[in-house]
Amino acid sequence: PVLVVDCGAQYAQLIARRVREASVYSEIVPHSMSAEAMLAKNPAAVILSGGPSSVYEAGAPQIDPALFEAGLPVMGICYGFQAMAKAMGGTVAKTGLREYGRTQASVGTAGTALAGSPAVQEVWMSHGDSVHEAPPGFEVLATTEGAPVAAFENLDKRMCGVQWHPEVKHSPLGQHAIENFLYNVAGLQPDWTSSNVIDEQVERIRAQVGDKRVICALSGGVDSAVAAAIVQKAVGDQLTCIHVDHGLMRAGEVEQIEKDFVASTGVRLIIRDEKERFLSALAGVSDPETKRKIIGREFIRVFEDSARQVVEEAGAHGEDVEFLVQGTLYPDVVESGGGEGAANIKSHHNVGGLPDDLQFSLVEPLRALFKDEVRAVGRELGIPEEIVGRQPFPGPGLGIRIIGEVTWERLEILRRADAIAREELTKAGLDDQIWQCPVVLLADVRSVGVQGDGRTYGHPIVLRPVSSEDAMTADWSRLPYDVLAHISNRITNEVAEVNRVVVDVTSKPPGTIEWE
Ligand code: XMP
Repeated sequence: PVLVVDCGAQYAQLIARRVREASVYSEIVPHSMSAEAMLAKNPAAVILSGGPSSVYEAGAPQIDPALFEAGLPVMGICYGFQAMAKAMGGTVAKTGLREYGRTQASVGTAGTALAGSPAVQEVWMSHGDSVHEAPPGFEVLATTEGAPVAAFENLDKRMCGVQWHPEVKHSPLGQHAIENFLYNVAGLQPDWTSSNVIDEQVERIRAQVGDKRVICALSGGVDSAVAAAIVQKAVGDQLTCIHVDHGLMRAGEVEQIEKDFVASTGVRLIIRDEKERFLSALAGVSDPETKRKIIGREFIRVFEDSARQVVEEAGAHGEDVEFLVQGTLYPDVVESGGGEGAANIKSHHNVGGLPDDLQFSLVEPLRALFKDEVRAVGRELGIPEEIVGRQPFPGPGLGIRIIGEVTWERLEILRRADAIAREELTKAGLDDQIWQCPVVLLADVRSVGVQGDGRTYGHPIVLRPVSSEDAMTADWSRLPYDVLAHISNRITNEVAEVNRVVVDVTSKPPGTIEWE
């Protein structure tokens, strides 16, 4: 892989995505990892990310010098550029000038790293310190007003760096610079494609599973569908899919699984009606993390039970069900603290909420992938667009979109409001513009309204439309007022318990996409 060393900013994920967009596989590692451990991953190249610190600050991320001596191609970005400059014998100084946002970079010699750049290119900057002198043997390629050395390279060492952020869309030629590094400085081939990912996973799954039976949680979402389809490709009818109807689904979802997925893949499906079980386990609970843990725990219990059912039905074969497929994605792994050093922000139920007495080994074919990569793999596998194009929906379902205790009555209110919002967004042609639009019921909040001639005392519904590339960061979507007005009118007219509709205008960070 290309290792993206996370120096403490949220940019590492974006860099990893950009590398993969160039059809080169990448993984994120924390800066605290030793060079030895990084080298053990057999990296093809290394990219050092930006970070919030100054290289001179006490406690600033230190890059193990051995990493620069390993003969690997290295690209430094922002903080990583400065760390590289310092490590290789250049000088980094506080200029007193902060450069932030859109900046013009003057490119003197484009060299290999900036090949194809015009003499002046627009770049996105965010730094205080600057490199003043390039290390010996490094050629300066660009300068900006605040950074006398804004890009450099040393082709003998296969190293280069830029002070700006090539990974963000505000640096229009950024992807080009990353590709210059990968293809021309590091000499890598663009051979990481969806069909290679599938072949690799199919092989890995066959080796892992052998002739054992596998069950898969089919939620109706993109991730579990694609995960199931890969596993089915690998081990065929050793796979049985189970859909747990926990009562926390949106309107029409069970039907959609039957219609769109089973019909197109022929996967064997068991539907378990477990509404009562989940609702009684959730009774009286309003703490978000507790809800998530309960839902995760009950999920696994149902699966264990379903496994027994599968074995019994397999009857004569008498085989065991040993494996459970989960559609865990890379951001879930990183956000759940699985990517060493990352903070535990929420325990996503497919990673953090597993009970201690878990009886299955996990098969997680999507664990290294971002959402858009999962969609590409799904399309490659021939899964219908109605499923691969679906917006993400959290495993704990509407259970974490009711703020307060979850009851059947509240679920029904939310389902009706959610169905209206979805229908109107689709009708307005906005599905492609928004990443997802959680609809949230503030079940413990009531406000006074007036409808007809009467006073009402109802609940607010929150619309949370966001745009995002990978759910790691998000912005609130600027939906047309007339669409919002229409959704609001319909919800307050058609869902009697709701007398207010509000729009969430918070980005992520600081808000998360879901409310719980
Ligand atoms: P947050 O709220 O953390 O959500 O900004 C990021 C993305 O993850 C989805 N989400 C989940 N998906 N299990 C899932 O499979 C979960 O427990 C879970 N919680 C949040 C959320 O809808 C958004 O797309």
